[in-house]
Amino acid sequence: MSARKITVVGAGNVGATAAQRIAEKELAREVVMIDIAEGIPQGKGLDQWESAPIEGFDSRVIGANDYDAAAGSDIFVVTAGIARKPGMSRDDLLKTNAGIVKSVSEEIARVAPDSIVIMVSNPLDVMAWQAMQSTGFPRERVIGMAGVLDTARYRSFIAMELDVSVEDIQALVLGGHGDTMVPLLSYTTISGIPLTQLCSQERIDAMIERTRKGGAEIVGYLKTGSAYYAPSAGAVQMVEAIVKDKRRILPCAAYLTGEYGQDGIFLGVPCKIGEGGLKEIIEVELNESERAALQSSADAVRSTIAALG
Ligand code: LAC
Repeated sequence: MSARKITVVGAGNVGATAAQRIAEKELAREVVMIDIAEGIPQGKGLDQWESAPIEGFDSRVIGANDYDAAAGSDIFVVTAGIARKPGMSRDDLLKTNAGIVKSVSEEIARVAPDSIVIMVSNPLDVMAWQAMQSTGFPRERVIGMAGVLDTARYRSFIAMELDVSVEDIQALVLGGHGDTMVPLLSYTTISGIPLTQLCSQERIDAMIERTRKGGAEIVGYLKTGSAYYAPSAGAVQMVEAIVKDKRRILPCAAYLTGEYGQDGIFLGVPCKIGEGGLKEIIEVELNESERAALQSSADAVRSTIAALG
């Protein structure tokens, strides 16, 4: 199964790596990269396509500055925006990226009104909200990538700590993509064995803290940009779930209409992802402190939306 056309908006590190992953997995016949920088999407697209005979994929990668090249795309992965510099919070990016996401969304609605948007730009939960406003798409077709990334970081830390395969670790990280994210300990297992049976609370707390600061840890190393290998992998896992109608249960930012006691905001929750995008939001039981943590995460997202004006 594959899509006809998938477009990645933004040919920076996250966007270009996402396009490469999509092409190498042959998730679409055509992969389009769009960026305002002249020559960059064309050059990166051609370079990726020239790797096709070696890697053995037939997804045709092209780059363009104009959205007409993206006409009729099934899915858009939106990575456009400026990235964090050291010391900058995701919310510092707010106004600049909201303007970028608004104009990108209007173009998407113009050239591909039936498409699905996967938002990656930060601050994630608010940019997803902005995309829904500006495309006018239903919530099934606007989903934010953050939980998959945050969960992957958490799982990678657990794998190192316990010296076990990453594949055997299941975890759920809810809430906004930021310092208020909510890792759910009761849903963290190693092949069904609760993490609490294999690891001290002190070590767990340290891993949770590292997960919360996972984005900033990479920014601290890179200095001139933020993470892109894991973020692009997260977005492409969602693309694959849609294209192959896998009905995966993934933590994604979804527009809530009463679920988890929240209304009118995007927040990371367990979602069933398949053909058509968001098929279902799954409400899991939370204990008192998880509920409180999710509420403060929702409050943080809400105040960021308010700051947009
Ligand atoms: C991160 C940025 C991309 O978490 O939000 O790495």
